[in-house]
Amino acid sequence: MFFPKTRLISYGLLASTGAETFVSQPRSSWSVCLGWRRKAGILPSLEDLLFYTIAEGQEKIPAHKFTTALKATGLRTGDPRLKECMEMLKVTVKTTSDGALDRHLFKKCVQSNIVLLTQAFRKKFVIPDFQSFCAHMDELYVKAKNMSGGQVADYIPQLARFSPDLWAVALCTVDGQRHTVGDTKVPFCLQSCVKPLKYAIAVHDHGTEYVHRFIGKEPSGLRFNKLFLNEEDKPHNPMVNAGAIVCTSLIKVMNFMNKLAGNEYVGFSNATFQSERESGDRNFAIGYYLKEKKCFPEGTDMTSILDFYFQLCSIEVTCESASVMAATLANGGFCPITGERVLSPESVRDTLSLMHSCGMYDFSGQFAFHVGLPAKSGVAGGILLVVPNVMGIMCWSPPLDKLGNSVRGIQFCTDLVSLCNFHNYDNLRHFAKKLDPRREGGDQRVKSVINLLFAAYTGDVSALRRFALSSMDMEQRDYDSRTALHVAAAEGHAEVVRFLLEACKVNPVPKDRWGNTPMDEAVHFGHHDVVTILRDYHTQYSPQESTGDDKTNAEKNLDGML
Ligand code: DON
Repeated sequence: MFFPKTRLISYGLLASTGAETFVSQPRSSWSVCLGWRRKAGILPSLEDLLFYTIAEGQEKIPAHKFTTALKATGLRTGDPRLKECMEMLKVTVKTTSDGALDRHLFKKCVQSNIVLLTQAFRKKFVIPDFQSFCAHMDELYVKAKNMSGGQVADYIPQLARFSPDLWAVALCTVDGQRHTVGDTKVPFCLQSCVKPLKYAIAVHDHGTEYVHRFIGKEPSGLRFNKLFLNEEDKPHNPMVNAGAIVCTSLIKVMNFMNKLAGNEYVGFSNATFQSERESGDRNFAIGYYLKEKKCFPEGTDMTSILDFYFQLCSIEVTCESASVMAATLANGGFCPITGERVLSPESVRDTLSLMHSCGMYDFSGQFAFHVGLPAKSGVAGGILLVVPNVMGIMCWSPPLDKLGNSVRGIQFCTDLVSLCNFHNYDNLRHFAKKLDPRREGGDQRVKSVINLLFAAYTGDVSALRRFALSSMDMEQRDYDSRTALHVAAAEGHAEVVRFLLEACKVNPVPKDRWGNTPMDEAVHFGHHDVVTILRDYHTQYSPQESTGDDKTNAEKNLDGML
């Protein structure tokens, strides 16, 4: 009978010395590295480590294997930050007979972008297990795709052209990890999704105080194009048409859009612009009302501003390029795929605040309640969603509900937050755990097991109480199938044993890899008090008389011991 009392400590130390990078690698690859390190007497370079990680013991890496492995991390070969690497790869592969790279050629290709590549392959991005996260996104996409209902907007004739079946989701993380599903290459107009972007630019250019001399910060509670001002005769906020038209008078050029999108697709639909202008009586009425109430800066030409407003609504994006815009907001104003600072932190903070409170019009309160993230909808069917410090998402499907928001987009956002702990208030302590994709599955599990079993090992009941309160699985096991109850019984921590049994109702007779139960541990290490607790609990909760032949080793030993 093997009693592995000390194994956990060695495992825990390994995991806690930052060596988990190796632990998480296939043993074959990191033992090769360690062996290589010993032989050469020097630390392997990052390029060498990367080569061994991808080569998996082979002498060469086929170029397609490298690019496939790269995409699995979420990075694209078209990512501007990998330009040098991809160009060198293209040239280098041509010099080989088999399209495969040995260690020397591989180093030549990756060395110019080695820091980003190392982060990617060491799973140090915000979504470490990107592939499984994307699988979840695809499931949510399919669920929303099956939804019917809603109407494609037609008050701007050009919008009515789009099929109600179009549905796309694209995401970009703050580390530039990309995922798309559905009609993500189809261009569509931002419409009101442009409002937070132009507000951000106005605050970036002029500062919060100046911009809000002209525009309020309160939800209007009215439809987006209501001819209505607040008690100061200002537009309620920059997310309704009145506020957006005034905001348009505060900005000059729009090259920001390209920077926000990381130079990905940003176009212009002249047909929509003309259609907007021809069907824009309501907006002209708003414009003249704003002019009458002196809402614009001195000297503003209202009709030119309206033209500019219509042009901005007619800016074309794809879901992909718009997701980068959203990610720039999620990333504090830095574009994740270019690294360029586009917006000031102040402008991003202000924009996300008003998206959160006013971005979804008359649905803003419910969206803040159920989804709890900054978002902005548009009449073309877009929803720009920001998960601060994590990612930006653009959902797009033309059919709108009666409040003017995309039916499928709302469903997707709601399901996303039901699955992942992205809601603004999901981070409360002791909150029921949802999927946290920012933690690698294995990584989170490993740390959780180590924390649990170390608390049992040290007899730390208060820590165990905290874990139980945060709905941790108190029966989880390490790789030897050892549970907290095994460890506590082996160490003789009677109070911990009692807590696990009576408060957490854990299984009293789990077996580890060697067939040991907690009772075996207590008997072997001579902890009589724990033996009594386990025995009494067992008798109380499984009172049927044992026939003797189903007794565990401990119970047989026990007969001799008591
Ligand atoms: O000014 C308008 O009415 C449109 N160009 C934009 C309105 C819009 O997108 C409302 N969103 N739900």
